Amino acid sequence: MRRLERTFELWPTCLRLSFGMNNVPAIKLLPRSGSVPRIWRREVAQILIPKDALARRVRALARQIQRDYQDRDLVMVAVMSGTLVFLADLIRHVTLPLRLDFIGVSSYKTRTRPGPLVFTKELGLDVRGRDVLIVDDILDTGQTLARVLQRLQRLGPRSLRTCVLLEKKARRVESVQADYVGFEIPDVFVVGYGLDYAERYRHLPFVGVLREALLRSGAAAASPRPVQPRKTG
Ligand code: XMP
Repeated sequence: MRRLERTFELWPTCLRLSFGMNNVPAIKLLPRSGSVPRIWRREVAQILIPKDALARRVRALARQIQRDYQDRDLVMVAVMSGTLVFLADLIRHVTLPLRLDFIGVSSYKTRTRPGPLVFTKELGLDVRGRDVLIVDDILDTGQTLARVLQRLQRLGPRSLRTCVLLEKKARRVESVQADYVGFEIPDVFVVGYGLDYAERYRHLPFVGVLREALLRSGAAAASPRPVQPRKTG
């Protein structure tokens, strides 16, 4: 019954959807793209997760968090900057009292493969004895989340859990798992809904697959301006 409800919840994406062992929606690539808005068609190959599916899933995650953190001293620690849209949507569905802080980690600059990790912002809040929930955009190799977990564990929280919007399992090198996962996705480079490529595309309202050719050429990384759509008529 719950499975059926979930299927209807995510109806627009159900063609590319199945459910993993822990009931996390697993998104598949389809050979044909959905309707990528014309302005983005030269850069985005297909919409992987449309905005209405994102909204429903984020609401469901918030409900789960709300249930699990009743009577807890919740501090959400968001990993900058890819979480910005996800976090903003998520916290507005959580009616519990909570504190919010940010941690900055950088590895992907204009590349899609990981480089060395650098902490660019430390926590401002004292999280000792508090229930910390780390929020991140995507769990890929697991190196970022593993380092953040390690760092926060040293600060003595009462509990430490993780929530990610997306998870790719194919390239995992660290044995880290997230406690809350929005969607499991295939091994493709995605942008939108906060996720960037060379600091672009964060404002797209959907999660889309960046065109391979663009990644290979580094065109988006090199160009400070978006590719202009072709004029018609
Ligand atoms: P790791 O490999 O450490 O990656 O788990 C986590 C961070 O890498 C970035 N990342 C991506 N960013 N599209 C993006 O825009 C992707 O497909 C992607 N894969 C990894 C992201 O910053 C994430 O926090």
